[in-house]
Amino acid sequence: MTLSRAPKVLIRPYIAADRDVCIAVFRSNSPRYFDGAEQPEFEAFLDKPIGSYFVMELAGSIVACGGCYVRDRTGRLSWGMVSIENHRASIGSILLAWRIDHLFRLPEVSDIAIDTSQHTAGFYLRHGFRITGQVSDGFGLGIDQVSMSLQRQDCQSQSNHSLKPTTCSG
Ligand SMILES: CC(C)(COP(=O)(O)OP(=O)(O)OC[C@H]1O[C@@H](n2cnc3c(N)ncnc32)[C@H](O)[C@@H]1OP(=O)(O)O)[C@@H](O)C(=O)NCCC(=O)NCCS
Repeated sequence: MTLSRAPKVLIRPYIAADRDVCIAVFRSNSPRYFDGAEQPEFEAFLDKPIGSYFVMELAGSIVACGGCYVRDRTGRLSWGMVSIENHRASIGSILLAWRIDHLFRLPEVSDIAIDTSQHTAGFYLRHGFRITGQVSDGFGLGIDQVSMSLQRQDCQSQSNHSLKPTTCSG
């Protein structure tokens, strides 16, 4: 993708009509990033999302989804994923930066936590998160559970992408 000729990017709240596309995004990332056994859990989440859940459209097509909520003053990221054919095109960074901003706009939120895998921890490290714990095979055989945290004071502006969401709501 040539980011200098960026197509229209939209981040909007998830609606039930997005369900099948979000499941397709999940399946594109399985088995490397998600154990197939996690799919029913994701489907149940889509049927009753905790907190806010968003989809990101690129030129009218959903290419990513991810959510966030707050528990005990800690912001939490939920089920963030980019369709595999769109990896490494800054989409995940844009959606992550948008969710971080969404959470840190709430004054009571002191930090943001994520449980992810060893395959993705490097992505969050690049965005200022630190590893706080690791469980081997915690998400399934070969997929470790890596707990990570971003403190408010460590948060840096990440809005220097040429792909800009044109509409944000939720
Ligand atoms: C993790 C994920 C969201 C990243 O999205 P992406 O759009 O591919 O990432 P970006 O293009 O924005 O990458 C930003 C930077 O992180 C790096 N990066 C991306 N994925 C990475 C990974 N898995 N490990 C280490 N670094 C990674 C990129 O190389 C890039 O580095 P650069 O700025 O030096 O060029 C995406 O790979 C994904 O959906 N993975 C599967 C689902 C998943 O594991 N989600 C985790 C939440 S539970």
